[in-house]
Amino acid sequence: MKLTGNTIFITGGTSGIGRGLAEALHKLGNQIIISGRRRALLDEVISLNPGMAAIELDINSPASIAQAAETLIRDYPATNVLLNNAGIMPFDDASTTIDDASAVAVITTNLLGSIRMTSALIEHLKTKEEATVLYTTSVLAFVPISTNAVYSATKAALHSFALSQRFQLRHTNVRVQEIAPPWVDTDLIHKGGDPRAMPLDTFIEQTISALGSDDPEVFVEAIRPLRDNPGVNEHGLVNAFNQSIADNPIPTGN
Ligand SMILES: NC(=O)c1ccc[n+]([C@@H]2O[C@H](COP(=O)([O-])OP(=O)(O)OC[C@H]3O[C@@H](n4cnc5c(N)ncnc54)[C@H](OP(=O)(O)O)[C@@H]3O)[C@@H](O)[C@H]2O)c1
Repeated sequence: MKLTGNTIFITGGTSGIGRGLAEALHKLGNQIIISGRRRALLDEVISLNPGMAAIELDINSPASIAQAAETLIRDYPATNVLLNNAGIMPFDDASTTIDDASAVAVITTNLLGSIRMTSALIEHLKTKEEATVLYTTSVLAFVPISTNAVYSATKAALHSFALSQRFQLRHTNVRVQEIAPPWVDTDLIHKGGDPRAMPLDTFIEQTISALGSDDPEVFVEAIRPLRDNPGVNEHGLVNAFNQSIADNPIPTGN
């Protein structure tokens, strides 16, 4: 996508990757509208970035999505980019009974939330000369982490949805791009400077430079072997990856 002159609505803009991309794209000369549930954080981010705007949104609520879309289109009719970024990452254990509330929450937030938000804005985006729908998926869409099985499944599903949507929109002015981050040091799990996690600043810098392309997928080079892995021989790498996590578990902060 072009990196300047857009009006960009970002879900999950109160922290981490969404806030980082919001601030970087704001500096590049885009009108940014962030969203999230935490009003105090929305206010903090927009006061630190004059010109940025915010809309409260609970992506788990279809009514909140409809309200946010209506406000966005009314107040920012130039909106031509949607970044579906809000997400949660609860731990689970697929070897035993999965907590139903947790599974429903992660599927509703990560998968349904992105589908619903896009559905609410897609006809508006089609009216723009150039428009883009972005999805923050994950390297875990391609190599699942077994300690977060439902989360990994939502990201694989979102990748699949983006593939279908990209094809369906091929004759329109709406492009679909996927951002597949590696492990980035944010509050998603437990921000703690783990050396396996990429610092947020480095991730944002590399992602912004890759986002300026027409590539359907944007990912940092470090994850290319994992991105290239799916195929009939994927099991060896998936098992080795998960064994490395079992040997050196991700601190949950609890
Ligand atoms: N960090 C990583 O290692 C990593 C790797 C791959 C992919 N990702 C993906 O990157 C995205 C951002 O994660 P992050 O690492 O930046 O984590 P984060 O700092 O925890 O940010 C998550 C964001 O999602 C928003 N959110 C969560 N539930 C929501 C809800 N019900 N309604 C509206 N907003 C909601 C939060 O806002 P409020 O709480 O204010 O609502 C927050 O802004 C997620 O989709 C995540 O899966 C992260």
